[in-house]
Amino acid sequence: MTILVTGGAGFIGSNFVLDWLRGSDETVVNLDALTYAGNLENLKSLDGDARHVFVKGDICDRAQVDALLATHRPRAIVHFAAESHVDRSIHGPGAFMRTNVEGTFTLLEAARAYWSQLQGDAKSSFRFHHVSTDEVYGSLKPQDPPFAETHPYEPNSPYSASKASSDHLVRAWHHTYGLPVLTTNCSNNYGPYHFPEKLIPLMIVNALAGKPLPVYGDGQQIRDWLYVTDHCSGIRAVLAGGRVGETYNIGGWNEKANIDIVRIVCALLDELRPDPAGPYSRLISHVTDRPGHDRRYAIDARKIADELGWRPAETFETGIRKTVQWYLDHPEWVARVQSGAYREWVDQQYGG
Ligand code: NAD
Ligand code: DAU
Repeated sequence: MTILVTGGAGFIGSNFVLDWLRGSDETVVNLDALTYAGNLENLKSLDGDARHVFVKGDICDRAQVDALLATHRPRAIVHFAAESHVDRSIHGPGAFMRTNVEGTFTLLEAARAYWSQLQGDAKSSFRFHHVSTDEVYGSLKPQDPPFAETHPYEPNSPYSASKASSDHLVRAWHHTYGLPVLTTNCSNNYGPYHFPEKLIPLMIVNALAGKPLPVYGDGQQIRDWLYVTDHCSGIRAVLAGGRVGETYNIGGWNEKANIDIVRIVCALLDELRPDPAGPYSRLISHVTDRPGHDRRYAIDARKIADELGWRPAETFETGIRKTVQWYLDHPEWVARVQSGAYREWVDQQYGG
């Protein structure tokens, strides 16, 4: 048996592939375009492992996707590939529309053609699992209950609008064509291999380099944080037992304000790698807010818990400690992803 994973060289995708092959011998075909966010180094431990078949390619390339499906005949597609960074979507939304909307459309059409000609068990057990985000639901007020799966879609950024569009396409391909889809909407992930354009890894690498820690606005925006391998186990649970056509929220029941996240990271670094110049929190610097910045996300993850028995294994305290330690242990990984393209992005976003 084989599964096709898209975007499996990115942050969550590579954690998912590694996790999958730790627990199963089922082959993973990994289709990834290796954009700035894709990094084969994350998968280095699988070099020479026949269970991992890496294919460099674009989900917008219908002919390539058709050929992959015909050759490998997967029993499921787990779709991670996306442009994922909100700030980049504000600077340049075009790539987000192309990959997240057109790419998902292309993949759905290829999956529909492939699934239509399957027979018997192969047809009834096939799944298209779409990996999405809580950002499609918009922003909560302080006293609002957390997002349930029934919450109206109110995306506010080009990124979240593109992901909302892709969710709608997936829903429609099920409703109209009967394609057996599953969608998961997850909160903010953190953990190993997280690209240092996102809050937690950016704060760790900047602090270690003695650079300012840029907190947008007042830093009181709230996110729900989930350790990445818990997201992976949630996806596995839904893929194995989720009801076709349903969406499942995945979250950590762990709301925190950004400024508190930054302070926690600083305190851990003070403990694990003290800086003779003083506490890392001295580097915190409030900068101009993100345009259209969503104030609060929170996830009601009762459906996946009640139906499938899924719960996160990590608390924030255990997960963030592991994460900070991972970055301390992998300076060469950080150095290699901080390429010329990375530096150009940092200059554009934070003015040098
Ligand atoms: P990422 O940016 O780290 O990785 C994206 C991967 O997709 C990269 O390997 C990239 O090379 C690949 N890719 C991009 N365009 C492609 C294309 N056209 N064809 C093939 N491959 C392409 O993203 P991530 O943080 O790992 O997120 C993965 C998925 O999970 C995304 O769909 C994202 O919306 C969703 N998600 C992310 C989070 C989070 O906190 N990071 C939370 C919830 C949901
Ligand atoms: O909620 C799930 C989403 O989480 C995913 O769908 C996205 O792919 C993922 O990138 C993430 O989006 P966010 O915008 O929440 O993540 P980011 O790490 O960019 O920012 C987290 C919070 O920290 C957000 O409120 C903005 C703030 N922030 C971010 C950066 C990069 C800062 O204050 N300073 C920064 O330099």
